[in-house]
Amino acid sequence: MSENQSPAGNQQTAAYDSAFLKACRREPVPHTPVWFMRQAGRSLPEYLKVREGIPMLESCMRPDLVAEITLQPVRRHGVDAAIYFSDIVVPLKAIGIDLDIKPGVGPVVEQPIRSRADLARLRDLTPDDVSYVTEAMGILTGELGATPLIGFAGAPFTLASYLVEGGPSRNHEHTKALMYGDPQLWADLLDRLAEITTAFLKVQIEAGASAVQLFDSWVGALAPVDYRRSVLPASRKVFDAVEGLGVPRIHFGVGTGELLGPLGEAGADVVGVDWRVPLDEAARRVGPGKALQGNLDPAVLFAPTAAVEAKTDEILDAAAGLEGHVFNLGHGVLPTTDADALTRLVEYVHTRTAR
Ligand code: CP3
Repeated sequence: MSENQSPAGNQQTAAYDSAFLKACRREPVPHTPVWFMRQAGRSLPEYLKVREGIPMLESCMRPDLVAEITLQPVRRHGVDAAIYFSDIVVPLKAIGIDLDIKPGVGPVVEQPIRSRADLARLRDLTPDDVSYVTEAMGILTGELGATPLIGFAGAPFTLASYLVEGGPSRNHEHTKALMYGDPQLWADLLDRLAEITTAFLKVQIEAGASAVQLFDSWVGALAPVDYRRSVLPASRKVFDAVEGLGVPRIHFGVGTGELLGPLGEAGADVVGVDWRVPLDEAARRVGPGKALQGNLDPAVLFAPTAAVEAKTDEILDAAAGLEGHVFNLGHGVLPTTDADALTRLVEYVHTRTAR
């Protein structure tokens, strides 16, 4: 990476020795690094102000706005990493899928993908399709100093769920009907999504991301046997394709207690854990050679400070023997979370773990 003298490469070099990237690489850290999933673009007043009147997908395509929203939680909370402000459906929109993000609902797809003919609508993603990402990351690498920037994408299963259902789903019934009913079409769909996701992650790494996270938010809906057979190959294809690019790869899903072993097998360097499994037990399930990320229940932040600190202590104690630990929530920041509670939590973890 040190040979890369582009502005993005310079920033990646500056961030290389950050606590966050050291923890991802399972090296000793000066303190346990902290960032929060969905730290950008939730309830911060400064976020709501800049987003006023601008639809979500449009805001993702405005580099100045993206850079500002990405930086807001770094300035306010002093987190150890920035996460690029975007959404998992942005690359799908960029290749022409007719979808929108409806406030308070989530991504909605006009014509769901359920047949072989539908699959043809998922064309390759090129860097030109997402030039605003490259531009926004260019601004960010100029502003972030030594703070690492996390790029991200949706994992094939979670993207497939939105595409096949046509929107958010509790039971994923159409998705599972396709997975069990037409295994070949399903495999081809996930393979296509793996290629799109890979292309999108490569754009971000090239533009300055120092780490990438694959969000497989809804994969906890699957039994391990189905995950292994029908989903793992596509996720592994993504991780293999970005291996050796010099950035840690993080893998995250919700409700994955029974899947932590197979998730580890998909190939990430860091596995995200929700709050249902303590980190020491999660490490046993994931196996050696991985750092873990997590795992405070985001709802705990609604309790008094002393209770938040007690739950945080439990997590830090469970993490004491890990090869590497990145402190995070077990899922995204909830929309009505008190911003000051997040700032206090960052400070608490830093102070308690200072070495
Ligand atoms: O982490 C961050 O701070 C960066 C920004 C980010 C967004 N979406 C912005 C967003 C990230 C990392 C995502 C990922 C994402 N998007 C996931 C995986 C993470 C997770 O929570 O499990 C998923 C499943 C999605 C799909 C999605 N997009 C949903 C379910 C929703 C609606 C829920 C909600 O919060 O309203 C969105 C919309 C969305 N993504 C908003 C933002 C800021 C709200 C936009 C708006 O309504 O104006």
